Amino acid sequence: MDGFTTRAIRAATRAPRVDQRPTSVPIYQAATFSSADAEELGAVTTGATAGYVYSRLGNPTVDALADAVAELHGAEAGFAAATGMAAIHLAVGSLAGSGDRIVATRNLYGTTRALFATVLARFGVESAFVDPADHVAVEAALAAAPTRVLYLETISNPTIAVADLAALTALGHRHGAAVVVDNTFASPALCRPLEHGADLVVESATKYLSGHSDVLAGIAVGSRTRIDDVRALHVETGGTLAPFSAFLVLRGIPTLALRMERHAATAARLAAFLEAAPGVARVLYPMLRSHPDYAVASRLLASGGGMLALELAGGATAARAFVDALRIPERTASLGSIHTIVVHPPSTTHRQLSAAELDAAGIAPGLLRVSVGLEDADDLMADVAQALEAALAAGPEASRTGG
Ligand SMILES: Cc1ncc(COP(=O)(O)O)c(C=O)c1O
Repeated sequence: MDGFTTRAIRAATRAPRVDQRPTSVPIYQAATFSSADAEELGAVTTGATAGYVYSRLGNPTVDALADAVAELHGAEAGFAAATGMAAIHLAVGSLAGSGDRIVATRNLYGTTRALFATVLARFGVESAFVDPADHVAVEAALAAAPTRVLYLETISNPTIAVADLAALTALGHRHGAAVVVDNTFASPALCRPLEHGADLVVESATKYLSGHSDVLAGIAVGSRTRIDDVRALHVETGGTLAPFSAFLVLRGIPTLALRMERHAATAARLAAFLEAAPGVARVLYPMLRSHPDYAVASRLLASGGGMLALELAGGATAARAFVDALRIPERTASLGSIHTIVVHPPSTTHRQLSAAELDAAGIAPGLLRVSVGLEDADDLMADVAQALEAALAAGPEASRTGG
């Protein structure tokens, strides 16, 4: 008979056989998967046979998430990574290397911009930043030098600009660039960029896909060959998603559309209210007729979604007073959650940008980004109304004249 510890290891690691299909995806919390014999182990390790050997090379729960999101996007294949930034790094890194060039929208999520402008630059990848609404400027940037990647955001962070994906992907392809789209703010419930010509779509699953601010994850979807390249880069760089995190994102996906409906209904009400409120210089919500991209948004998005931005006439002072007076929203820096989250991008998500870069990206000192949560709309409306009064009281005299 084997010794106690040998038996303990065997006894406590024997996976149960289950003949009935579970109605949720099990969490395969295992670093390693054992093969029947040396032949099978070799075949699975080299990828000649489908299967699992080591969770950085593949894990059933993580693969189930990647497949689910690929299906929602109408993609051939998907890959799930540790965070949205890991997915973005993998997507762009699978396409561009030393000597290559990226043309990207200038109002990018701050960390993505930093990845391009600092990290990838150190590896010899050059980036140019353009206004995606100015198609002449985009074309000029693409034509200026051979470009490997055109990188866009469906709805931009934090200015809520909506990219004309069909026109921009056509431009990118005409100049030989692969088009990568960050669809985080929209989620597949609102927009599926592959349908508009994108080559790879990335999302921070930390946001709407999971929806509860309790997990970090990232997704890339596209053709099988492009996702094979993403997977190969991941094997050599890591950034592996944990099975429990994959489970939490899978747990969010069935309610994505329902959550989105509620996010959008409340956001639309809030946007209309803010647009008429004193002290508010500007409201940016895709489905407001005053939004510069209203026509594009109406074609591209199933609804306006849950993200809006407002600019307080009283500048940074008023913005701070507004945030401090809010009772319901969380003072934190994420989005796409059950909670309403209000951030002041110049001092949080876009802190890496200089004053000139903030200005060029259209981020005014009084800009606030609101991720509208699932709380009761009446409660949120009342809270925002009282916070606006606090902002008016704190801001300079000029803020009283805004409308
Ligand atoms: C548009 C967008 N893309 C990517 C990310 C990065 O996602 P993660 O924090 O999961 O790495 C964020 C995070 O806020 C984001 O807002």
